Amino acid sequence: MYNSVLITGASSGIGEECAVYLAHKGFRVFAAARRIDKLKDLAALGSGRITPLPMDVTDEASIAAAFKTIADEGATLYGLVNNAGASSMGPLEKLPAEEWRAVFETNVFGLAAVTRAALPQMRAAGRGRIVNIGSLTGRIASPFQGVYAASKHAVEGLSDSLRRELVPYGVKVSVVRPGAINTPFGAHEAEMLARYETDAPYGDQVKTFKAWFERQHPAAPGPSVVAEAVHHALTAERPKSRYVAPPKMAYALALRNLLPTSLTDRILERVNGLDAARKKAEGLR
Ligand SMILES: NC(=O)c1ccc[n+]([C@@H]2O[C@H](COP(=O)([O-])OP(=O)(O)OC[C@H]3O[C@@H](n4cnc5c(N)ncnc54)[C@H](OP(=O)(O)O)[C@@H]3O)[C@@H](O)[C@H]2O)c1
Repeated sequence: MYNSVLITGASSGIGEECAVYLAHKGFRVFAAARRIDKLKDLAALGSGRITPLPMDVTDEASIAAAFKTIADEGATLYGLVNNAGASSMGPLEKLPAEEWRAVFETNVFGLAAVTRAALPQMRAAGRGRIVNIGSLTGRIASPFQGVYAASKHAVEGLSDSLRRELVPYGVKVSVVRPGAINTPFGAHEAEMLARYETDAPYGDQVKTFKAWFERQHPAAPGPSVVAEAVHHALTAERPKSRYVAPPKMAYALALRNLLPTSLTDRILERVNGLDAARKKAEGLR
């Protein structure tokens, strides 16, 4: 009998890669997202072990329907990979409240809703694994990423709390924190940012930051590094509470934890070009 795992946001990028990777490792995968056509294509790659499921994590009725399908298939979930994610970018002062709400609806409230739906069967079985896809941005927040950073910081907090409350029930909780990963996510974020490039007073800063930001994802590793971490979190006898993917990005967290914040701020400004741009602008005044 294969262990069953539900992956949200499986129609693209990290979720899609996790679905194929876990199916090839012998899991029965329920691959969920809103774009069902993309999920059908994905199912063909999974040696018959991937079942596509329409699910919008912001819609309780859609979550309930997906869990009914899982139950109708006679499966009990061993694993849940909360991967579905959304982002918006721009200066906090400018970003509309509805974009803040939309990002939190998916990354935080949606994640919590799917987890609520999965927990009764995991507790009843006395075993289970929940893997929440966070982000390095859940620890290190760049400018113009406030809403996304806030949502991923929230994922860190709720995961700590959940891990501790589920100890008696044999359900283990891990956070996987990807660094930049080459998926469609980064290009979408850059598009969001582009809306503010000519917008006073932040336009010049946004332009400089975007020029750096949009180079990161195309040069980044592919999503398989995240799938490997997810697989470890699902299968290790003692899964880690946190994974960084790729592992070498842990150096960034070590610096963040060890250095005074003022120094981290200066390093980040130097790396993303905002420092040089500011000095140039000051020189021109
Ligand atoms: N790529 C990176 O550099 C990076 C870095 C750190 C963390 N992450 C995190 O990794 C996760 C996956 O990102 P990715 O890079 O794979 O991005 P992606 O390729 O854009 O995929 C995002 C996935 O989320 C799904 N999704 C979005 N809103 C949804 C909703 N309301 N209900 C259900 N599914 C929804 C999308 O599917 P549908 O549109 O079909 O629903 C899609 O399958 C996210 O949580 C993201 O924050 C990514």
